[in-house]
Amino acid sequence: MAEVMKKLLSSLAIVICFSTTQADSSKPPGWAVASAHPLATEAAYWIAAQGGNAFDAAVAVSAALSVAEPMSSGIGGGGFWLLHRAKDGYETMVDGRERAPLKAHKDMYLDEDGEVVPQASLDGALAAAIPGEPAALAHIAHKYGRLDLSISLTPAIKIAANGFTVGPRFQSLTDFRKSSFNNKARRLFLDGDQVPDVGAIIRQTELASTLEEIAKHGHQGFYAGWVASTLVSEVTTAGGIWTQRDLSAYQIVERTPVRGVYRDAKFVSAALPSSGGIVLSQMLNMLQAVEAWNQERMSQLHITVEAMRRAYRDRALYLGDADFISVNQAKLLSVEYARQRISSLTDQATDSESLTKLDDKTAEGENTSHFSIIDDQGNRVGATLSINYPFGSGFVSAGTGVVLNNEMDDFVSKPGTANVYGLVGGKANAIQPGKRPLSSMSPTFVETEDFVAVLGTPGGSRIITMVLLALLELVDNHQRDVQKVVNLPRFHHQYLPDHITYESDAFDQRTTSALRARGHKLMVRERPYGDMQAVLWNLRRNELSAASDRRGEGSARVWQ
Ligand code: GLY
Repeated sequence: MAEVMKKLLSSLAIVICFSTTQADSSKPPGWAVASAHPLATEAAYWIAAQGGNAFDAAVAVSAALSVAEPMSSGIGGGGFWLLHRAKDGYETMVDGRERAPLKAHKDMYLDEDGEVVPQASLDGALAAAIPGEPAALAHIAHKYGRLDLSISLTPAIKIAANGFTVGPRFQSLTDFRKSSFNNKARRLFLDGDQVPDVGAIIRQTELASTLEEIAKHGHQGFYAGWVASTLVSEVTTAGGIWTQRDLSAYQIVERTPVRGVYRDAKFVSAALPSSGGIVLSQMLNMLQAVEAWNQERMSQLHITVEAMRRAYRDRALYLGDADFISVNQAKLLSVEYARQRISSLTDQATDSESLTKLDDKTAEGENTSHFSIIDDQGNRVGATLSINYPFGSGFVSAGTGVVLNNEMDDFVSKPGTANVYGLVGGKANAIQPGKRPLSSMSPTFVETEDFVAVLGTPGGSRIITMVLLALLELVDNHQRDVQKVVNLPRFHHQYLPDHITYESDAFDQRTTSALRARGHKLMVRERPYGDMQAVLWNLRRNELSAASDRRGEGSARVWQ
């Protein structure tokens, strides 16, 4: 049954293209949308029919995902919305990342001996940072949208009230996290104490009321009034440290995105507190410094892994919320620095420990959600949203139906100790009151004279290397079939743990042997990872296409 459902759902994730008779590429010939859930993609379609633009659609899709994909993102979490406004080319990143509560402190997840308390930053109300998504949606609707927020939230409110249908992905992630659910989460997402059957309907009436409150009162509908007081009371009763001051103080920040050039492509990606844009730029600068595309395939793979290793090492050492720490971004983004970092390359794998020793614990797990939109005016949105781990902290607030994130785990609980993604870090990403945890979420635009693409994916620490591989496929391999780009088999290195993780179809036996001969350690992942959503505007043919990852249950749609 699960297989049948999976096939049915994945058949929705197809590329749909069309072209106009004349190739006038000053404006796209329609809309292209790809998201991780068919109901969210349909919400964008509905918004277009109401006269909305890509920014209204981004609000509608984000809110719909928060209801129909409660394991991945939500109004109890945060995200980054990368915007391109067609009329003046203005580009910005709306930073709706969660913030640490004001009572948070750097040792809050350590025991008396200074050791990390297992699961403390992952499960329950103490793991939750102050959500940013409601503030971001109100801001985007008000500043960039054409429609009232209440219209853009309509599809999400309907989905919450009428329910969404359980699919295999919901089932498997519910099974994975159900032992951490609080009572409210169990009542909402389980059938008794069992995972619901495929086809079961999940209704979230309290969440519908919370969304209605945001529809009526905008930002204040979440951060003040009965929603805020219920959240604070629920969190503190369950051992968390939120106060009304935390909610009243939450503000989104518009940040200048990271920009770079790779060969003939310009790219735009997420700024701090996401590490995405900086790490992506560093990897691309290193590949460019040695003209990796001119090498034979094995050397290309080897160099790509070495670029990943070096960039993730810098992530661990230097990156954090730049509102709190000083980050020498100009240096990290410079071509000269990349040249110097890759100059230690040999034909053998570099030992990560020789770059700087940090702990090497590993862990599994990924979640988060991404969507990509281009509208008929050429406005673009790439947004990656998260509550961190599947179902966030596993804590649903009764009365509001909000699933709380566990984004506090993206901080470093103890320098050198790995988080749930196996990522290590140091002081730069230590917990401080009001600070935003370092993220890997990387919504990205890529542009050449031939095409414009919007892409991104969930996948924890592996997000940035997935975006890198997709970008290389577009630019180095001139791939214009966006479905092939999102379906590409993947590999990843993140400095520590010191091994290449790869999907089983990424490398054949000859490749794994050749990589081992160069000293690389390899770890195959039997389960695929990521859920990339991408749209592409082919400027030469004035054609749009959209693709949703074969690994997920999303849908892609193009219309005029
Ligand atoms: N919570 C995953 C990330 O922000 O990278």
